[in-house]
Amino acid sequence: MSFTVAIDGPAAAGKGTISKGVAAHFGFAHLDTGLLYRAVGRRTLEGMEPIAAAEALTAEELQQGDLRTAEIAQAASKVAVIPEVRAALVDFQRAFARRDSGAVLDGRDIGTVICPEAEAKLFVTASAEVRAERRYLELSAKGDDVTREQVLADVRERDARDAERSTAPMKPAEDAVLLDTSDLSVEEALAQAITLIAERKPATP
Ligand code: DC
Repeated sequence: MSFTVAIDGPAAAGKGTISKGVAAHFGFAHLDTGLLYRAVGRRTLEGMEPIAAAEALTAEELQQGDLRTAEIAQAASKVAVIPEVRAALVDFQRAFARRDSGAVLDGRDIGTVICPEAEAKLFVTASAEVRAERRYLELSAKGDDVTREQVLADVRERDARDAERSTAPMKPAEDAVLLDTSDLSVEEALAQAITLIAERKPATP
């Protein structure tokens, strides 16, 4: 029997860490759907047309190179506005969600558009300042040449674009539980997420 966990929210709110932890705890597969848009964004930086890039996307591309750069994040947010790009990525995400072993998908529109029937939905947020600081530490630890001001501006620009687009804008599903991680440690945020999901999961015989 499939069980889908939808985890949405803005950039650097802690979705990735929480999703990985939840997947490991329950033995579910995990898909970071941002990587799909990032892979398409990378193709456009290489000169490819976005819709063609989305239609030709392969699972292998998600593993190749570093998709988590600031430049690719912006390119991803831009291609994600295009309805045909989003449409090309739907089937892959839905097939992943409905696997028998259970799945966690994190992104912006999982609870609203990709998996409106998901058994558990979380919307993970944190203030823009807290998220920018986390992303700044992450990028500078990798050696990326960024400043705090740049990262905060980047986070705000992506938030606005992701929330204001007309197709599948980032927003909490009506039945999503909000989890604000601004004042939580990673362990606290993960523990709260696990508790919320366990409440929705049927006991295994
Ligand atoms: O989660 P992320 O930062 O890796 O996502 C990169 C961009 O991809 C994000 O700014 C918007 C887009 N995205 C989306 O539109 N829908 C998703 N389900 C996931 C990401």
